Amino acid sequence: MTGRYLRDTRDGYDATAAAYAGRFHDWLDRKPVELAVLRSFAGLVGPGGYIVDVGCGTGATTAILARHGTKATGIDLSPNMIGEARRLNPELDFRIGAMAHLDLGDETVDGLCAWYSVIHVPDGDLDAVFAEFHRVLRPGGYLLLAFQVGDRPRILDEAFGAKVSLVFHRRTPQQIIAAARPHGFTPYVETVRECDDDGLESTPQAFLIMRKPTVS
Ligand SMILES: C[S@@+](CC[C@H](N)C(=O)[O-])C[C@H]1O[C@@H](n2cnc3c(N)ncnc32)[C@H](O)[C@@H]1O
Repeated sequence: MTGRYLRDTRDGYDATAAAYAGRFHDWLDRKPVELAVLRSFAGLVGPGGYIVDVGCGTGATTAILARHGTKATGIDLSPNMIGEARRLNPELDFRIGAMAHLDLGDETVDGLCAWYSVIHVPDGDLDAVFAEFHRVLRPGGYLLLAFQVGDRPRILDEAFGAKVSLVFHRRTPQQIIAAARPHGFTPYVETVRECDDDGLESTPQAFLIMRKPTVS
């Protein structure tokens, strides 16, 4: 995995974690489609199922998945995002970690949520990420991905008044499925909603649930 991408992403979110929490932590409360997707994912994993929310940020999705009866925990690259997640969700467990090197045993996870976090992974590193997701998921487990749809990355050198170097890779569901399939994932739910005109979005949004087959 490319060290520069990891460092830039970590530093970018470290510099903006508090402002990000203020702007986005309650964001999903106003997003009925996203809430339905998260509820469906929690339902597929089942009551008490162990979900790891990778790239959890401030833990907003971790909390929603936990509210739907799963045992959800969060992992994120950015220590300051993990700090916000712990502050905002003191009842839940959060750890610092990188998605291509998860500190989890083989086939120990029932569901893996990567909600707008593989968006920062360059194309050349997606293979390592899907291999790692496949390693930790148990056979029959589910993978949820959310990402912006598009064919060109968005590059930010400033966010919330801080200097950052963040790349947001926009992709199509077909591109993500093509990257995940060689690792054994099969698509299960594919949802794309149009861009909301709230001044914050500029692309359609994709929500993809894939499954690790019981026999691979
Ligand atoms: C756009 S934010 C989304 C946060 C959260 N999922 C949400 O929807 O509010 C992307 C998050 O992914 C994390 N991230 C990016 N690359 C990562 C990696 N390789 N490993 C772990 N976390 C990563 C970032 O630190 C950041 O907190």
